[in-house]
Amino acid sequence: MSGRIYWNGTPVPFLPGENAASALLRAGIAGFGRTPTGLPGGVFCAIGQCQGCLVMADGRLTEACLLECREGMRLSPRGGMNE
Ligand code: FES
Repeated sequence: MSGRIYWNGTPVPFLPGENAASALLRAGIAGFGRTPTGLPGGVFCAIGQCQGCLVMADGRLTEACLLECREGMRLSPRGGMNE
């Protein structure tokens, strides 16, 4: 199913079967917040190994590259809403 997810409240369209990292990247969103050590978070491995793409998804910390988009899903950077 295609539809929209929300990144910090901004609607982002997704394609059928697309993962959240892919939808965000297609929308021009490459920075997914900061790691605990202060490095920029984002997609690196795209196979669930590096943890670089961790985001908050409907209140749960998860890898965006492994997360299939669902209509209305709300995402935000792991460090908060200000990135
Ligand atoms: S990009 Fe490495 S875990 Fe998602």
